[in-house]
Amino acid sequence: MPRPHGGKLINKLTRAALIDKRIEEAKELPKVDVSTELRIDLENIAVGLYSPLKGPLTKNDFDAVVDKGRLSNDVPWTIPILLDVSEKDSEKFKEGDSITISSNSENFAIIKVEEKYGWDKETYCQNVYKTNDAEHPGVQKTANMNPVLVGGELELFNETPGVFPQYRLKPEETRFLFKEKGWRTVAGFQTRNAPHIGHEYVQKTALSFVDGLFINPLIGKKKVGDFTDIVILESYEALIKNYFLKNAAILVTLEMEMRYAGPKEAIHHAIVRKNYGCSHFIVGRDHAGVGSYYGPFEAQEIFEDYPDLGIAPIFFRNFFHCNKCGGPQNDKICPHGEEDRVNYKGRVMRQLLSEGKYPDDTQMRPEVTEAILKHKQPFVE
Ligand code: ADX
Repeated sequence: MPRPHGGKLINKLTRAALIDKRIEEAKELPKVDVSTELRIDLENIAVGLYSPLKGPLTKNDFDAVVDKGRLSNDVPWTIPILLDVSEKDSEKFKEGDSITISSNSENFAIIKVEEKYGWDKETYCQNVYKTNDAEHPGVQKTANMNPVLVGGELELFNETPGVFPQYRLKPEETRFLFKEKGWRTVAGFQTRNAPHIGHEYVQKTALSFVDGLFINPLIGKKKVGDFTDIVILESYEALIKNYFLKNAAILVTLEMEMRYAGPKEAIHHAIVRKNYGCSHFIVGRDHAGVGSYYGPFEAQEIFEDYPDLGIAPIFFRNFFHCNKCGGPQNDKICPHGEEDRVNYKGRVMRQLLSEGKYPDDTQMRPEVTEAILKHKQPFVE
């Protein structure tokens, strides 16, 4: 099992004995209210999923991450985790002060402000998302963010149970679980979709040479038209029950927003899985992509810049169904031509499903389709 990213699993949760004290202290401090997504990011820091981060980025780290995809101490890091506040809020406190962070008016954390600083959104978007196109969901999100960034160490005293508490594990817990199962090597699988046959074969091919598969769908804010969280979970339960050996795969949610940052996000996804204890991370075609902003294998090529990442990527080109071979294939093993190949197209499958129709069995397992169609509205509206 790899050591956590940066060497040590970060724990910024308040000790139980001190929680009441922190609740009282927080009432007296200047307050900043943040979105649910930001609250989740701060929770992810507190439980060590974003180790070695101890809080939202300070300026040194912000500049290093944006410029070279590394923290200022050279540890790989590609997606800035930021606390953005309005000018008005930023006037309520100065560097060195502690502030209370709330969401929907519920206090949950205290941050010791190390720095307040401004940022250039254009450079940020260009470097993180590789575009400034206003249509890109990450660029849109950035445009709506506040002008002042706050960096400093976090302490979190009020944790949310999570959307699906029974599926949400902390890195400390998954590391324990892998040990208990005797899994020395574990392949992490990122997804934001209900599984089609292409996903299943990517997973099973990886599973052929590691001890366990860690299916880790992203739960949280996604774009309109994506599968809803409950549909993703129930469709995976159907797949695991019917098509996986017992004890070969576990399903754990990761509450985290999709950024659609393609290559940069692939590195971020790998780091988080390393913190969970995965030795390997699966990266297929167009990982974390959206539209045509990234080349289909850019999210693989970027790993060349990170030989020191500490988790081994497993790359897959493109699984497709081959009519001649009669099953899932990829271009390293199938000798047949384009005319025999049918790509697994999520968009086409979602379109069929939205009309209440079953995609072909060669595209999606019928049990998976059934689990999806049990829901009247399986997509984010
Ligand atoms: S993602 O945005 O979370 O990357 P998705 O849930 O579709 O989207 O993909 C999960 C993982 O499976 C990614 O690593 C992706 O590259 C990979 N993948 C999806 N479809 C295929 C396919 N047909 N061939 C190879 N890899 C695939």
